[in-house]
Amino acid sequence: MSTPNELRLFAAELAREAGELARRRQSEGVALAATKSTMADIVTEADREVEAFIRQRLREVRPDDGFLGEESGDATGTSGLTWVVDPIDGTVNYASGIAFYSTSIAVVQGSDPDTWQNVAGAVCAPALDELFTAAVGEGAWLGDERLQVVESWPAGALLATGFGYDPATHAGDLATVARVMPLARDLRRCGSAAIDLAYVAAGRMDGFFERGLNPWDYAGGAALIAEAGGEFIVLGEPTEARRMYIGGPSALVSSIRERIENES
Ligand code: IPD
Ligand code: CA
Repeated sequence: MSTPNELRLFAAELAREAGELARRRQSEGVALAATKSTMADIVTEADREVEAFIRQRLREVRPDDGFLGEESGDATGTSGLTWVVDPIDGTVNYASGIAFYSTSIAVVQGSDPDTWQNVAGAVCAPALDELFTAAVGEGAWLGDERLQVVESWPAGALLATGFGYDPATHAGDLATVARVMPLARDLRRCGSAAIDLAYVAAGRMDGFFERGLNPWDYAGGAALIAEAGGEFIVLGEPTEARRMYIGGPSALVSSIRERIENES
């Protein structure tokens, strides 16, 4: 049995090593491996290599735990814990030479995203030289700085969002942005949901909303936000395509939710 804090430290070590591998590969030149759901949904050789590296380390050190990764699918474990891994979140940035990409690793109790409980998480942004970590009951951290979501936004909230890869969804997502904008001081679309969520946990941005995320996009960041005193919620039924994910301090999450649920 490991404590949440021990799992946090292991997630942090893995995320740092994986992030460094991604960064090294980027400096050698990024090779596109394939496209996935749409032409814009790319996967690089490095996405696959970094996930294989993380998965192998987990196999060696924590063979009884389950796994859910963006590139290599899932495996059921026997311990009740699942590692949820996005090897490179922000792949388009990564392939374009933009620094906003990250490795996100979470460990949760359970295997269903709708019911699992956060245990620990780490988001490493290697080109920004930052590693965010959290463990349940132990807080969220950037190095030895304890993180706290922002509780007031007198000039309006600084919000982050993102868009899916399918151009057919862009008009709807922009309409949602228009609904939410009256709450905002300004809006950011940085290109890595994991970094967006880490920044909300760190109080650099106030809140986040995006439709259609996958569990590996948000699992690490959701753990950070929860331990930084905030909330991360999903709207809609599990069967629904492109559910809405919202993170931030509870009052802001409620305001964003209200505006989105009143969409017509
Ligand atoms: C994407 C990023 C992006 C978000 C997309 C995600 P990927 O993940 O997190 O910010 O807007 O919804 O799919 O594909 O770069 O791992
Ligand atoms: Ca992702």
